[in-house]
Amino acid sequence: MIDPAKFVSDATAQLQRDVTGKAIIAASGGIDSTTAALLAEKALGERARAIFVDTGFLRAGEVDRVRSFFLTSGVEFDVADASDRFFEALRGVTDPEEKRRRIGAAFIRVFEGEADRFGADRLIQGTIAPDWIESGGALRDTIKTHHNVGGLPADSRLGVVEPLRDLYKDEVRAVARQLGIPDPNRQPFPGPGLAVRVAGSVTPERVQRARVANAIVEEEIERAVTSGEIPAPWQYFAVLLPVPTVGVLGDNRVHGEVVSVRVIDSVDAMTATARALPGALLSRIAERITRELSGQVVRVLYDVTDKPPATIEWE
Ligand code: XMP
Repeated sequence: MIDPAKFVSDATAQLQRDVTGKAIIAASGGIDSTTAALLAEKALGERARAIFVDTGFLRAGEVDRVRSFFLTSGVEFDVADASDRFFEALRGVTDPEEKRRRIGAAFIRVFEGEADRFGADRLIQGTIAPDWIESGGALRDTIKTHHNVGGLPADSRLGVVEPLRDLYKDEVRAVARQLGIPDPNRQPFPGPGLAVRVAGSVTPERVQRARVANAIVEEEIERAVTSGEIPAPWQYFAVLLPVPTVGVLGDNRVHGEVVSVRVIDSVDAMTATARALPGALLSRIAERITRELSGQVVRVLYDVTDKPPATIEWE
């Protein structure tokens, strides 16, 4: 485990060497990029500007949460609304790797545009060790392409700076705590967002279904943690599956989709264990998802697979 205070002073000095002009920060609202943003603010002050991209794939309430954090943090920031561009980039795409590549490319185009506006020649990212290790940096096969790794064209004007690239998640959380970031144990959320929690085609309607299901899983798990029913899991979410299935609504048979719920424990995201949840809690989650998405989702499954062999996210 690193010494967080020493890491902050070393990383700040390194950022001052790496960035002589201006930099934009790829800010997703998650712990990693928020930690990178606060380090950049410390090192560079007004020469750094955080860019929060609204991809259209964010969780319920996320834009407001991130906006209010940055307003009080002292970090200069902009919200770039690019949801039309992201939905367009994914039109007709169902292959998980192709989705990730296109999302990565769309992010880069947005960041290049924002860098031009701000006069920046550096892009600061919150990439951490598992992101690049699992994107093929150290293992032979690419497990999956994390959107914040690669994707930058060879001729890009933007040099990438990754102050957290040697850290694992538990170490980033220690640094986040050192910097006073609220709720450093908040669960991770993938950069490509709900697009990788919608298996199959990514349409606004299907993303909205996944958004509602994810919000229900978060609310029910967090309520169960607060009431002492379960210890806090590491990560918990819902995935919409492209499987047509039959349900009953009143006297009629209806056709809907399937949601899979995943709740895992982990330390560093490199391995994970599926959590055995109380049956009553699972039933409450299934009841709410099928009621609040009545006629759209008619079946809820629980994913009992560890990592390995499965990854944490489905795509
Ligand atoms: P996997 O699914 O690879 O996920 O076992 C490991 C952890 O990383 C998160 N994740 C991502 N984080 N960009 C990110 O910043 C990504 O593209 C990405 N994909 C997965 C995932 O939620 C889990 O916590």
